[in-house]
Amino acid sequence: MLALWAVLVAFPIVASRPQRGPYKPDWESLDKRLLPPWYDQAKFGIFVHWGVFAVPGFGSEWFWWHWQGNKDPAYVNFMKKNYPPGFSYADFAPEFKAEFFDPEEWADLFRDSGAKYVVLTTKHHEGFTNWGSPSSWNWNSVDVGPHQDLVGELGDAVRKRGMHYGVYHSLFEWFHPLYLSDKKSGFKTQDFVFSKAMPELYDLVTRYKPDVIWSDGDWEAPDSYWNSTQFLAWLYNESPVKDSVVTNDRWGAGCSCKHGGFYNCADKYSPGQLPSHKWEKCTSVDMLSWGHRRNMKLNQLLDLPSIIQDLVQTVSLGGNYLLNVGPSAEGTLAVAFEERLRGVGAWLDLNGDAIYSSQPWRVQNENVTVPIWYTFKDSNVYAIFFTWPSDNTLQLTTPKVSPSTNVTMLGNPGLLKWTPMGQTGLNVILPFPFLTSQAWTLKLQGVA
Ligand SMILES: *[C@@H]1O[C@H](CO)[C@@H](O)[C@H](O)[C@H]1NC(C)=O
Ligand SMILES: *[C@@H]1O[C@H](CO)[C@@H](O)[C@H](O)[C@H]1NC(C)=O
Ligand SMILES: *[C@@H]1O[C@H](CO)[C@@H](O)[C@H](O)[C@H]1NC(C)=O
Repeated sequence: MLALWAVLVAFPIVASRPQRGPYKPDWESLDKRLLPPWYDQAKFGIFVHWGVFAVPGFGSEWFWWHWQGNKDPAYVNFMKKNYPPGFSYADFAPEFKAEFFDPEEWADLFRDSGAKYVVLTTKHHEGFTNWGSPSSWNWNSVDVGPHQDLVGELGDAVRKRGMHYGVYHSLFEWFHPLYLSDKKSGFKTQDFVFSKAMPELYDLVTRYKPDVIWSDGDWEAPDSYWNSTQFLAWLYNESPVKDSVVTNDRWGAGCSCKHGGFYNCADKYSPGQLPSHKWEKCTSVDMLSWGHRRNMKLNQLLDLPSIIQDLVQTVSLGGNYLLNVGPSAEGTLAVAFEERLRGVGAWLDLNGDAIYSSQPWRVQNENVTVPIWYTFKDSNVYAIFFTWPSDNTLQLTTPKVSPSTNVTMLGNPGLLKWTPMGQTGLNVILPFPFLTSQAWTLKLQGVA
């Protein structure tokens, strides 16, 4: 797998127009589709993990599995101590009330974070659907719990603000009887796929017209079991979103990092160098969970400087950055999450020129005195750094300067003084004192 990333190719990852179909239901054909350009331009998205798991709000969104799947003592004891005997996971659903859920407020915050797309878990591995799926009788957010179409309401609010909307969808469900019987047959039967997974995917696409299908829960069975290539051929050839939709790479065992649209590879995965295929890093503000945890501590969260560095490094390496928050069962977002999202937004307000619609440069990073990460857009090179050099002079060894080279700092008026360093490279005298930030961006015009 890793060898794939070792290929160092520096050419634009996304062409300007998606290749038109028709696509055949096989990887050779589907993998030829180019991503619609909006996705690479967007760079930054918000991931939202929300479901019944937010009610126990303990451990992680894998609560049910840890409790009754692998019977982890921490979870078994939590249930013994706090709930009556015979309490089932389904008994949590009525407590998923979302009484403070205000999609407009969430969407305002996501827009203010600088995100250009939002991806919501429409159904996680527990199988509960956050919309009124006809294939999920009495285990969906319209029949029980919130009694609301959460997928639709958030989608409307997100789109109203000019962001793209994506749906996370888990193919497998830990405890669905049909899935378990298919599994028992060695995935020779496909009863679960035909009566649950596929009908729900088609329903999501036709109802909500998502711009992203973020597939997950694929790894136990081959893509032929999931009918993934048939679904994708329909999605790309005939669906109402055939020209705008992007998907990831989780479509069956062995697909990850190899087939599909953009590559997620593993959760929180970053390649060490510029890959030849568009990728996305998904990560979570709460380092221990994607879903809500009632006992979350501040020191278990990514802090703002770490988030901004992660975003910059990801974009510099050609990736998109999908940052997750897990709302509570009441429909609130932790204020520490809000603070971080607003912090990213404030940074992007000043420095977004170096991020949105940028491309990887011929060199991604260097580190002579302090680490520097590069991006490229409209013939400008952007150099982003996280540590202020002690003598207020920043050394850049990679750019080739000319007498007409101009250097500015985003958010700071006026040209900066610089001096050439031999054949390539320059020393830039930084403006001092300059406002406190988590990262600063130099814009270099007229360098090669
Ligand atoms: C699954 O794929 C087979 C072909 O392999 C096709 O005949 C069938 O219609 C597909 N079913 C669904 C629900 O996509
Ligand atoms: C960058 O270089 C400095 C000076 O050589 C070194 O102290 C520092 O650890 C390096 N940082 C990284 C992230 O490589
Ligand atoms: C640098 O700025 C000067 C003065 O504003 C301008 O004439 C020149 O074209 C700029 N150089 C580049 C490479 O943009």
